[in-house]
Amino acid sequence: MIPKKIFIVLSLLVCAALLGCAGKNYGDEQYQLRMATAGKDIMWVPSKVDMVHKMLEAARVGPQDIVYDLGSGDGIIPIEAARKYGVRSVGIEYNPDLVELAKRNARRADLERLVSFKRGDIFVEDFSEATVVTLYLGEALNARLMPRLLQMRPGTRVVSNVFRIESWIPDQEIRSATGEMAFLWIVPAQIEGVWTFSGVPGVSQMSAQLRQKKQFFDAQVFFDGRRVAEIENARLQGSLMELQFSHGGRSYALRGQVQAGQFVGQFNKDPQLQVTGRRSP
Ligand SMILES: C[S@@+](CC[C@H](N)C(=O)[O-])C[C@H]1O[C@@H](n2cnc3c(N)ncnc32)[C@H](O)[C@@H]1O
Repeated sequence: MIPKKIFIVLSLLVCAALLGCAGKNYGDEQYQLRMATAGKDIMWVPSKVDMVHKMLEAARVGPQDIVYDLGSGDGIIPIEAARKYGVRSVGIEYNPDLVELAKRNARRADLERLVSFKRGDIFVEDFSEATVVTLYLGEALNARLMPRLLQMRPGTRVVSNVFRIESWIPDQEIRSATGEMAFLWIVPAQIEGVWTFSGVPGVSQMSAQLRQKKQFFDAQVFFDGRRVAEIENARLQGSLMELQFSHGGRSYALRGQVQAGQFVGQFNKDPQLQVTGRRSP
């Protein structure tokens, strides 16, 4: 078995070799950037532009988004996000030469208005305003970032080139035309706990005990304190939650948005039948 760290370094080197340009200057006249230049926690290897576009497309980047690339290298991801979607984007990078190069690249692309680069450590800097986070870092660094990523606003999209995030099952796998992989996750709302719901037709008191496993959850449903259904492996989509079950020959579907311990949704997709819910403190 190859140790994980060596595997990641080898993977990045293979990427570099496949890109086929160990001696090429990826920088400019002011900074000579070579493939596999050492970085703080991981070396510099660039994402390919077609993969960057696929990653941003999978994240459904829209006009309201703020894209953060953690370990932004020469700035390719923030620059492409701004160029393609007109969004504000930020790169955080430890290597000061790369930060300056990325700034010059943004200036050359005439995108300084939208793109900025911050010199800093991704494990120290604040990126909580991001609605889309991009990564090309390696599995161990992704795993270290996971607790912070899971604390981000529900619905934030996280896209990682090549590497997975430990135990967090991706919501989508992305494949480039040349067969390389990237992965997308949507940060789930926090729903663990006991909920009470009002507005369910024919039910005086409905509650549910929810057990969360990142974007998946199991639920036990109670009517008037009596267990009537069990739901396994339901999936959250950011803050969109759906509870679907049958009882007494009837189908129930509560679908709506969760925010700060409150649920607002519809019963059986009927806009006239509003259901609300509250999580016990
Ligand atoms: C594999 S490169 C990816 C560059 C760029 N995101 C891309 O996709 O082309 C990883 C980058 O992370 C930077 N880096 C490594 N550790 C870092 C840290 N702790 N904080 C900020 N940047 C870091 C490296 O200098 C390098 O530029």
